[in-house]
Amino acid sequence: MADAKRRPGLKPVERRTFLRYSLIGSVGAGLGGFGLASLGFLWPGSPEGLFGEVPLGNANDLADEIQNERAPIRVPEGGISIIVWDPSASGADAAYGEHHQAILSDDVGLMALNSSSCPHLGCGVPWCQSSQWFECPCHGSRYNRLGEWTGGPAPRGLDRYASFINGDGQFVVDLGQELTGPARTANILEQSPEGPHCVDA
Ligand code: FES
Repeated sequence: MADAKRRPGLKPVERRTFLRYSLIGSVGAGLGGFGLASLGFLWPGSPEGLFGEVPLGNANDLADEIQNERAPIRVPEGGISIIVWDPSASGADAAYGEHHQAILSDDVGLMALNSSSCPHLGCGVPWCQSSQWFECPCHGSRYNRLGEWTGGPAPRGLDRYASFINGDGQFVVDLGQELTGPARTANILEQSPEGPHCVDA
């Protein structure tokens, strides 16, 4: 078990605000990960309302919820989808570890994807619960659970934000440090679709 990588404390997002995020995420997941949730993705997105280093909740709780629901947690105000990734997967730490330091154990880390702006032409990219991929409704680009490109016209995987765990155990996303998504050739996750797609290619 690796020690969680932590940095000194920042004030967390108010609990009520975070619960609102969680509620929205849960409703989205309950609707099959698409449905109403897709309405919020029909407009090109850019993070609004949150700036700089933002604590988004207890890192362990977030990871548990994502794994239990088998769905990312959306933070609409930040244009973020929080995902779980496996730093022990072949090549994963070398590819992502430098900027994604919210590591909870050898094989569980958190990462914040910019799911509000498809690298093709900027549409929001909803999560598809049935395929367990992100699928863009505008021109059909698809991304695996790690936001890696799997098909469509997008030039790369989903962009993402640097993140870490602070001294209070909070998962903190640095909205001032947006990172260009991985090249099309990146396929560390090697995840096939796990069910029907939500968007036709
Ligand atoms: S904007 Fe997503 S595929 Fe075109």
